[in-house]
Order: sequence, then structure tokens, then C-alpha cells
Amino acid sequence: MQKMASRLGVGVLILAALLGSATAQAGYGYAAEYGKIAPSPAAAPEGAPTGSPGYGGYPADNAAAPAAAPPQGGAPAETPVPPPAPTLRFGFYRRSCPPAEYLVKHAVANAIRNNPGIGAGLIRMAFHDCFVQGCDASILLDPTPANPRPEKVSGPNFPSMRGFDVIDAAKAALEKACPGVVSCADVVQFAARDAAFFLSDSRVSYKLPAGRFDGRVSLETDALNFLPPPSFNLSELVDSFKVKGLDIDDLVVLSGSHSVGRSHCSSFSDRVSTPPSDMDPGLATVLKGQCPANPNFTNDPTVAQDVITPNRLDSQYYKNVLRHKVLFKSDAALLTSRQTAREVANNAAVRGKWEHKFARAMVKMSLVEIKDATNGEIRNNCRVVN
Ligand code: HEM
Repeated sequence: MQKMASRLGVGVLILAALLGSATAQAGYGYAAEYGKIAPSPAAAPEGAPTGSPGYGGYPADNAAAPAAAPPQGGAPAETPVPPPAPTLRFGFYRRSCPPAEYLVKHAVANAIRNNPGIGAGLIRMAFHDCFVQGCDASILLDPTPANPRPEKVSGPNFPSMRGFDVIDAAKAALEKACPGVVSCADVVQFAARDAAFFLSDSRVSYKLPAGRFDGRVSLETDALNFLPPPSFNLSELVDSFKVKGLDIDDLVVLSGSHSVGRSHCSSFSDRVSTPPSDMDPGLATVLKGQCPANPNFTNDPTVAQDVITPNRLDSQYYKNVLRHKVLFKSDAALLTSRQTAREVANNAAVRGKWEHKFARAMVKMSLVEIKDATNGEIRNNCRVVN
């Protein structure tokens, strides 16, 4: 019942948001085309691992490496964000492709209406893209004979990463409207922004600078080296964020996205087996019932990250951390220093504030190691370099 109500809520919000945009964009005459965008089928990457278990696909040896409540009724305020990096601009496609942001939002809305989990996948995709070769859509590249092991087939991404077909649908619509103009790297960041907007009931709302170029390099080894596994402790997490120019506050704030989506059992099986971890015994018992004792590539079910509000991007995550009701060691690690524990308690207690911090941190993350015309391109198809 609760699940149905939440899906209904997301549906109403999507409709309202799109009606708003459609009114604003009606002059461009694209409205009649929107319903025709057909998502292309999500292909399992060739050359993907066939038998390796661990961390939702992470190989086990992946070590290398009190304020105001949100306004009631009416739309919550948009979060002001810091000025963009030199090569990026707000409203970047205003002249070159006026409906660009609308087209992405439409593709995301379509996907989330059918399955809110895809929205979670898109938020995670932005993170996994930015931490490997910068925010350059390198995560989207399919294996080829010349590059059989791109990021996409790496343990942290395969088979758990989802949302690729949403990016394809958005890019197809963009290429139809304004060929060769909008980068896949921007589409990934717009899509995450829009997913966060819908899943948060519009409480996470921000403008995103754009003008990123797409990269030509995508290596499995980079994904293994730069994406922190769920087994990391606090200092390992802090280091993995630091090399990407993000600080400990960003770590705490962005981890809040674990209030939506799912996890494969293999990503936390170390925490529910004996000897017991610091996980709440009640949650551990439930998870033992949902997961096989030894999850592997052919038997690795998924569970909700946040059982209280599974499809809602909110600060419930921090309450879960305080109650030891989180899946990963990396989540629990936020209680292992005074500074991060204080931030967790703050985010849990103060209603409506985390959403603004999250918006700012997402923009900051979207600026990591941006490519420009000298080292990037605008891909025609997000899955292959030009
Ligand atoms: C701090 C280090 C982080 C670690 C160790 C971590 C690890 C993980 C793992 C293991 C999963 C489950 C994958 C699976 O088994 O299916 C997951 C899911 C997820 N992560 Fe993270 N993550 C981290 C940070 C982030 C950040 C910074 C974001 C976004 C800004 C993020 C967003 C998500 C989302 C939304 C999901 C659910 C995805 C879905 O349902 O498809 N995570 N994360």
C-alpha cells in the first residue's frame, strides 16, 4: 500500500514537472515527438565477467588501489550552487539546443515512472562516471575488439549498474533535435540531477553547469582503482574522495544517496555472516533470510538499501546509520570519527537541510576532471567513441 502510494506520488510529481517544462518549452514544437522516444534495449556488455562473485560484482581483491523544515505546499526552493568550472556554464545549451535539458528530464521521468529504481541507478552512474577519468561518460563505452575491458565490465559496474538505456533514449532524442551538440557526459549529469529531483519529491533541485566533453578512454583497471568498495573504512573512503578533489563533508553528504535503490547481497555478505558486525541484529536476521549464505554471480539477489523509504531520496539514511541499520561497512564507517558522526546526527535531526547540501555536493562532484575540446569530443552514440 505504502509502496503504491509512493509510486503514485512520484507519478504525480513527474507529470507536474513535465507539464511545467512543456509549457515553458512549447514554443519549440517538440512536444508531439516526446512520446515517441523508444528506449533502446540494455545490452549486457560483451566480455563481462561470467563467474566472479563479491560486492555486487566487486572482486574480493578490489583493494588497489535545527533548521527550517522544507516549505509545506508549493515547490521547495532551488539550491543555489557555486559558480561552475571555467569551461562550464549554466544554461550551456540555451542557444545551441534549447530543449536539451527538457529532453533528458523527459527520458528520466519515463523511466522512473515505470521503475523508481532506475532513478537510483542514474544517481549512482554519475558518481561512477566522475570518479573514473572524470565526468566524461567513459562509463558508457561498450567493449570493442580494440578495448575489450572498459569500465562498464568492471566489478563495481557489472552487473549492478543500471540506467544505460535511459541515457540512450535521452541521447537519441537529443540527436534528433540537435545533432552533434549535447555531450553524453552532460546527459549523465543532467539525468542524475533529474532523478534526484523526482525521487526527492522535488526537494533536491539545482541548476547544473554544462559543457563537458566526452572522453575516449575507458579502462576496467581504472574503475577498480578509483571506485571505493563497500568494504572500505573511513580513512580509505576519505582518501578515495580526496584524490577526486572531494572532502570528508562531501563523503558524508553524498553517501546519503544510499537512501534509495538496491544492493546485491554480495555487496554486504561479509557483514551478515559470522563473526557478527556492528549491524543491527534484527536487520542482519532479515537480510540472512533474503540472501543466500554465499552469494555468487548466478545467485545474487538484491535488497532495498533503505527499508523505511526505499524509493525516496531523503535524510532517512542518516537515521539508519545511527541505528546501525545500513548495509555496507562504508555506511557504518561514518560513525567511526567524531566529525563524521556529528554530521550524520545533524543530517538525521535537521529536516530539509541535507537536501540542499546534497544538491551542492552533486554539482561539485559533476566538476571532477572535466574534459574540453582539447582532450574530448561530442560522441554521436554514447556507447562508442566517434
Ligand atoms: C562512499 C563510497 C561509496 C561506496 C563504497 C558505495 C557502494 C555502493 C554499493 C556496493 C552499492 C550496491 C551495488 C549493488 O550491489 O547493486 C551502491 C549502491 C548505490 N550507490 Fe553507492 N557507494 C558509495 C558512494 C556513493 C555515492 C557518492 C553515490 C551518489 C552520489 C552513491 C549512490 C548509490 C546509489 C543511488 C545506489 C543504488 C543503485 C541502484 O539501486 O541501482 N553511492 N553503492
